[in-house]
Amino acid sequence: MAKQTISFACTSCGYRSVKWLGCCPSCNEWNQFNEINTKNSSSHNVTNISRLVNLDNIELTNQKRMVSSIHEWDCVIGGGIVHGSLLVLTGDPGIGKSTLLLQISQKLAEHHNVIYFSTEESLHQVRTRAERIGTTSNSLLFSDESYLENIIASAKQHAPDIVVIDSIQNCYLNNSDSTPGSINQLRESTFHLMRFAKDNNIAVIITGHITKEGIIAGPKALEHMVDAVFYLQGDERWQTRVLRSVKNRFGTINEIGFFEMQHNGLHQVPNINAQLLNEITHAPGSALACVMEGSRPLILELQALTIESKFSTPQRVVSGVDHKQVMLIAAILQKYLHTRFNLHDIFFKVTGGLSSRESTADLGIALALLSSYFQMPLPEKTIAIGEISLTGHIKPVKHAGTLIKEASKFGVINILLSSSQKIDNAPENARTFHHVSDLLTLFRE
Ligand code: TYD
Ligand code: MG
Repeated sequence: MAKQTISFACTSCGYRSVKWLGCCPSCNEWNQFNEINTKNSSSHNVTNISRLVNLDNIELTNQKRMVSSIHEWDCVIGGGIVHGSLLVLTGDPGIGKSTLLLQISQKLAEHHNVIYFSTEESLHQVRTRAERIGTTSNSLLFSDESYLENIIASAKQHAPDIVVIDSIQNCYLNNSDSTPGSINQLRESTFHLMRFAKDNNIAVIITGHITKEGIIAGPKALEHMVDAVFYLQGDERWQTRVLRSVKNRFGTINEIGFFEMQHNGLHQVPNINAQLLNEITHAPGSALACVMEGSRPLILELQALTIESKFSTPQRVVSGVDHKQVMLIAAILQKYLHTRFNLHDIFFKVTGGLSSRESTADLGIALALLSSYFQMPLPEKTIAIGEISLTGHIKPVKHAGTLIKEASKFGVINILLSSSQKIDNAPENARTFHHVSDLLTLFRE
């Protein structure tokens, strides 16, 4: 006979313990432990033999991806939404997730059946937003239902192509032991939606905001369960919004799309590089780099300010690129060029609220730091493409041809590269460097 054992589970995060605990060691919530009965059986009573098939017997579906004709979105998604997939759109509160989803849903509803469940805002608020965006389509259906069982039941009845749920954090499950809004319930809801999407071949898009406690406690916990995850990012001071794919079972990751938040919704920015180059400041401390983000070349303006520090521990303030990347390059420059960055405060940023983690920007970072240190501007319209090794050597990068082509398209005059970079049809305006110590020639002219 199956043996009954008693254990306790946290209703917030699902952590299990053999005895009752006041505070959960996993999520630090108080008074969340409830008794659960687990059957400790050595054998399952009911077993069904699974059906096994070989690849040839699996039916190929040739359903086309659902495109919204908002190019930046379609591109990041991987060429359109796949039927039966579960996508998550996440980002900070107020970044524009609901605005983007409403615009996308309106466009998709022109050719597909879409139901938009607004669990966070009233239908009146949704209508006001739709008026503001200026697109009201009769084919898009709305509901303010927030019980997940009801959402799934209505979606099954209407059988649309796409279901949008804004947001998953405000969905409730009736038949659940966990507290509404807890990580456990978030996981449970996502699990139900995943099954619903696959069983009914209906695409589901959910939004989830990054919670105050940090990314881990929010939608990050769902990443392994869903088909694709997209982040909408931006800076409070800038109107530019970057849509980035961080996981995509049906497309490439790190693909990015650009939007601009205006008074009437999000507008695509198809040519972000042209816009960036128009706003470039030619001054000491500024350097241009070109990096690949997904399949797209992106020009970045890197700005450094180095100033003698008044403190025994100099300040380091970095945004847009990895803090460690800047510190490492400053250390390499100090080692081989004897620059005294250890006595300088370093402030570093990427303009336009953009960011990159690519090592292709190493050379640009080094040049921005040196340009500020020597207080000398780099030659006008100069772009740097190269990685720097710990030994100070400037290394070649992948896709240099594409990066150079993009830079040249926007009137970049000088291109700085590694001397071992191999490219077909090397441009005449390319200057090559072997080691960081060679970079000093740029500041002696
Ligand atoms: P919203 O889509 O509600 O953000 P989220 O769903 O990510 O929380 O966007 C809210 C912000 O966007 C709000 O501060 C107002 C601004 N906004 C505009 O600037 N223009 C617009 O047309 C709209 C609809 C919103
Ligand atoms: Mg919202």
